[in-house]
Amino acid sequence: MVRRIVLLGPPGAGKGTLARQLADDLGVPHVATGDMLRAEVADGTDLGRRAKKIMDSGELVPDEIVVEMAVERLSRADAAAGWILDGFPREVEQAIDFERQFAGAVPDTALYMRVDREEVIRRITGRRVCPRGHVYHVESNPPRTEGVCDEDGLRLTQRDDDTQEVVAKRLEVYVEEIGPLVTHYDELGVLRRLDASGHADAVHGRALELVSK
Ligand code: AP5
Repeated sequence: MVRRIVLLGPPGAGKGTLARQLADDLGVPHVATGDMLRAEVADGTDLGRRAKKIMDSGELVPDEIVVEMAVERLSRADAAAGWILDGFPREVEQAIDFERQFAGAVPDTALYMRVDREEVIRRITGRRVCPRGHVYHVESNPPRTEGVCDEDGLRLTQRDDDTQEVVAKRLEVYVEEIGPLVTHYDELGVLRRLDASGHADAVHGRALELVSK
């Protein structure tokens, strides 16, 4: 069974949602550079302060920072049997640096999540998060009580980078970077295209079929 998976896709494609499902299925950690950076911001570290400015502008945090972060995380014992990478690598230079610095960095499968722009905007604008990272959607995955996290009772908010202006920038950056990254994984023979439209459970089912092949 495939155990090292990279998820590629636009902001709001559902990478985090699918990554959590696959991590449960396979018993491997879900490693998301966006979540790691947001944890640095929440902890008020120097890195967090620098990263917040960049994230709030919709640009990418410098490669050396995210590659080092990912390599350190994947070197821990719980990632020895595999991992689900969400939001990393997100440009071909990161993939190449990652492969130079980490033995076994080439995934078994890179799932390229395809979903149209209108749906991406709908998913992002309806997303609500709790301070501990639990994710909801006002229509497709609402909490039991409006505005309150089911898991820990904390208040749900919108992410600072989910404003219309920043989302437009994030999508622009994505479109610039995704082509060469997809080509890279295609040339390595690990790329699989995933229809990420429809309900999250349907996307999960299609993803499982692809990683089981
Ligand atoms: P990051 O946190 O990685 O954000 P992203 O890639 O823009 O992706 P999102 O988290 O917005 O969306 P997602 O695809 O995970 O969707 P989700 O599952 O939440 O990065 C943020 C920033 O950090 C970057 O802009 C950059 O500055 C920096 N950064 C991070 N990694 C970096 C790197 N490697 N290099 C440089 N900089 C980096 O779903 C979205 C919503 O839709 C949710 O509400 C969910 O409930 C709902 N939903 C999910 N699936 C479905 C479905 N099938 N149907 C209906 N609703 C659904």
